[in-house]
Amino acid sequence: MIEKLVRDRVKSLKPYVPGKSKEEIVRKYNLNPQDIIKLGSNENPWGCSKTIEKELSREIKNLHQYPEPVNPVLMRELSNFLDMPEENIIVGGDGADEIIDTLMRTFIDEGDEVVIPIPTFTQYQVSAHIHGANIRYGGYRKEENFKLNVESILNNITERTKIVFLCTPNNPTGNPIDKKDIKKILESTEALVVVDHAYIEYSRDIYDITKWVLEYENLLVLRTFSKIFGLAGARVGYGVADERIVNYMMRVKPVFSLTRLSQISAICALRDREFFNFSREKGIESREMLYRGLRKFRDLKVYPSEANYLLVEIRNGMTSRELCEELLKRGVIVRDCKSFEGLDGEYIRVSIGTFEEDRRFLEILRDILS
Ligand SMILES: Cc1ncc(COP(=O)(O)O)c(C=O)c1O
Repeated sequence: MIEKLVRDRVKSLKPYVPGKSKEEIVRKYNLNPQDIIKLGSNENPWGCSKTIEKELSREIKNLHQYPEPVNPVLMRELSNFLDMPEENIIVGGDGADEIIDTLMRTFIDEGDEVVIPIPTFTQYQVSAHIHGANIRYGGYRKEENFKLNVESILNNITERTKIVFLCTPNNPTGNPIDKKDIKKILESTEALVVVDHAYIEYSRDIYDITKWVLEYENLLVLRTFSKIFGLAGARVGYGVADERIVNYMMRVKPVFSLTRLSQISAICALRDREFFNFSREKGIESREMLYRGLRKFRDLKVYPSEANYLLVEIRNGMTSRELCEELLKRGVIVRDCKSFEGLDGEYIRVSIGTFEEDRRFLEILRDILS
């Protein structure tokens, strides 16, 4: 009976596969939590701003009251941070994931199309599918370090296309999309082009196109507090777009999804520029250290990255599953890339760790591969 009630779209859904949590690995392998090195979910290994704890405990006394749907202090801080008007910003309470979902609920009618180049962040596909969109896939050129195949996007745009997703730097490949390619796509369609900048703070400034929203009415830039600000557990993301897009999205966005605790966390994070700069500088150093370390392995190919993770191809006949399992047994979590559609072969994705974690990971890897 239940089968008859559930939407077909839900029955045919391939659910999102999240990275493994520390708690899960502790339980499964009976390990000590302190010994686990988590390099699987592109988080900030240095945690978050130390200023947050005190402000959160102060806010606890207000937890019986609903939060403000739009927190003016957070909007002001975010507007300063981006150097953009508040009217162009929408903040979501389940991270950038909520902004993706809100986009679908605002723009997609059953049968509309979205264009997604793969391999990329899987949530676009999951959300598009649930909301009734038909997906057309574009691609990246593996032989050119996963450079975007612009023609594969342009050729898939039809009159039914509502949204084109471009992730830059792209997850899981780590490479940025050329600005001129983004421009070409923006200028050749009336569909909404969503540029996902979840990792932009780890890239060179030249790749940041957030300000383009003042020029292109069909652009939405997606950003998050989960990465550089170290707030993946607080679930705060935001979109930057034309004021009209923001206003329509505000109509359908869950009203109270941004909790009091998330709002306070985000405000503190934005005010602590020292921690932000530290995370950026050390994060890039960690990525470079891992890149140099991984390049030394004959059995692996590591791809250049502008994000806080590296894509690594396994070339010794071992599967990604086997390598991940060996690492897990030794307390290291990396991401098995098998669930990324469009990535044929054996790949893992390794997020940056503290320098000590990077060193230990490289040692453990040497042990497994030798
Ligand atoms: C490219 C990309 N976009 C968006 C997200 C979602 O971020 P959030 O934690 O803000 O929902 C992620 C998370 O890993 C991501 O990799």
